[in-house]
Amino acid sequence: MFTQFFGLKFNPFSKEIAADQVFLSQDLVELNSRLKYLQNTRGIGLIAGEPGSGKSTALRKYVTDLNPSLYKACYFSLATVTVLEFYQGLALELGEEPKHKKIAIFHQIQDAINSLYHDRRVTPVIVLDEIHLASNKLLEDLRLLFNFKMDSHNPFILILSGQPLIRNKLTLNINNPLRQRLAVKYIMQGLGSAELKQYCSTRLKMAGLHEEIFTEAALEAINSATNGLPRMVNNLITNCLLFACEKKQRQIDDEVVYQAQSELNL
Ligand SMILES: Nc1ncnc2c1ncn2[C@@H]1O[C@H](COP(=O)(O)OP(=O)(O)OP(=O)(O)O)[C@@H](O)[C@H]1O
Ligand SMILES: [Mg+2]
Repeated sequence: MFTQFFGLKFNPFSKEIAADQVFLSQDLVELNSRLKYLQNTRGIGLIAGEPGSGKSTALRKYVTDLNPSLYKACYFSLATVTVLEFYQGLALELGEEPKHKKIAIFHQIQDAINSLYHDRRVTPVIVLDEIHLASNKLLEDLRLLFNFKMDSHNPFILILSGQPLIRNKLTLNINNPLRQRLAVKYIMQGLGSAELKQYCSTRLKMAGLHEEIFTEAALEAINSATNGLPRMVNNLITNCLLFACEKKQRQIDDEVVYQAQSELNL
């Protein structure tokens, strides 16, 4: 196994990553400053980004870092729940036994959000991931569901996160009312080339390897093959490590990257 060959305690480029080990990329710094602003104003925010750009990871970290005595975080992914399941799940998370009709669940959710915010001084933070899968109908429902005191008050934070398609959906006239209500927006950029280098070395150090094993040319090749998208970076680097281990080569140069990349493209 390559971990043994390189003297790594584990593969630091694997998919599983604890919230406290997430790399603090420029994307995370910029996103966090917008989310901090949203914490003050409350209301609705949007995060868009290519698949694998780190949206869900960033949100997982954000939600984990929230003070539970001030915020109640609820996370839903439209990839795994239906729209009705989302409403029911949200009602349940807010401590309600969901009724049968959607309109009744709407009222339950609104009452629960009001009571949480005004009586218990806790702000609900609702994350709706994979929002690009939402229909226009759901986007409109969201606007109505999160409309309090005739739209003059925000006792909640709603974070919508999804692939760039959501931006096209929001430009449709029918979705204009929701688009206008977005208090913050952020588009994930991926790791820049200097960041990629830092990412690689901090990940390797975390797993116990303090030596620079990537050549400059290899890092450049990784950057251009992945556009700095963390999921692709992780996949490509893992393949590079496997490949270099097979060849008993400790240094990863651009040749290894090209070979590993062409294997990934098979
Ligand atoms: N800041 C980070 N530090 C370390 N690893 C990261 C970071 N961001 C993303 N990753 C890695 O990249 C992978 C993909 O990230 P994530 O699932 O957050 O992307 P996404 O934008 O939500 O993608 P999708 O649109 O497909 O849902 C994660 O499994 C994680 O391993
Ligand atoms: Mg995701």
